[in-house]
Amino acid sequence: MSLLEIRDYRLAFDTFDGTLHVLDGIDLSLGAGETLGIVGETGCGKSVLARSLLRLNESPPARVTSGTILFEGKDVLALPEAGMRRLRGRRIAMVFQDPASYLNPLLAIGTQMEDAIRGQEAALGGAVRPRRAIRAEAAGLLASVGLAEPQRLLASHPHQLSGGMRQRVLIAMALAGSPTLLVADEPTTALDVTVQAQVLALIAGLVAEKGLALMLISHDLGVVTASCARVAVMYAGTVVEEAPTASLLSHPLHPYAQGLIAAVPDLDNPAHKPRGIPGTIPNLLAPPGGCRFHPRCSRASDICRSTKPVLRELAPDHRVACHHAETP
Ligand SMILES: Nc1ncnc2c1ncn2[C@@H]1O[C@H](COP(=O)(O)OP(=O)(O)OP(=O)(O)O)[C@@H](O)[C@H]1O
Ligand SMILES: [Mg+2]
Repeated sequence: MSLLEIRDYRLAFDTFDGTLHVLDGIDLSLGAGETLGIVGETGCGKSVLARSLLRLNESPPARVTSGTILFEGKDVLALPEAGMRRLRGRRIAMVFQDPASYLNPLLAIGTQMEDAIRGQEAALGGAVRPRRAIRAEAAGLLASVGLAEPQRLLASHPHQLSGGMRQRVLIAMALAGSPTLLVADEPTTALDVTVQAQVLALIAGLVAEKGLALMLISHDLGVVTASCARVAVMYAGTVVEEAPTASLLSHPLHPYAQGLIAAVPDLDNPAHKPRGIPGTIPNLLAPPGGCRFHPRCSRASDICRSTKPVLRELAPDHRVACHHAETP
């Protein structure tokens, strides 16, 4: 059984300008201990999808219009709020893009970590532990993400830490509940490349050591392919291709995935000129009918304009949603 199983999930936002059809039939699954990268252009719905796992965007204007999300066999969309609180942080940990906005600038790191650990305990309804024990756990978590002098850090405020240190603190807090799934949404976008590499290595190390499943979201193909065994490519609220990383990189089948890979500069071969994908992402208030990529696709034909392609397996474990994927 999969740890996470998303089937035909659709979500829309009702805005003053009309209905934004953001997620349009997402199908994805993730087994225990597996690593899945999700890549796609800005605005394609990656963060909305991540938040959906914890039902963080279900109040208006958001509306789930179809689908199921099963996590550890439970129907997340039907769980009562108390059950949901046990999932958030406890079983599914989230690390978000911008650490500064998830840490309170007015409170010491230690206070915020204690709150996070106590929050996990309260959700479980267990005995209340003494503050000293909580503090020791917080220090242990900071040490486990490679931060030196945890005691001094606990007494520090967020502005006294570098961006990379703050991101490590957030990862430490995410691990407080001993989760089985870590969802990291652009965890390194705000960091410079060397620190980015360190944080990615930290995440990879923790995932391997603790046997966590990982969903790593990024607009940067290099980030997800370096860290994940499997990659799903999203375009305008749909998964257009999903494959083992090596297979996706060597034989991308969807024209959008091919464009994405061709757009990456090659440092070893400066003569290779990265090519962009012509056109722009569609307006989700009135997305194109049929395949949402068809207005930008050189292979588009009548069926692409009329019929939404379904994800189908064309090579072992390699799925693509394109009517013309077999065409070389
Ligand atoms: N609360 C909201 N109300 C209305 N529209 C929203 C809301 N949250 C997200 N959206 C819309 O949903 C779409 C997908 O947004 P999302 O944040 O998931 O994109 P993303 O793929 O994560 O992009 P990025 O790479 O820039 O982070 C966008 O068009 C966005 O404007
Ligand atoms: Mg995002």
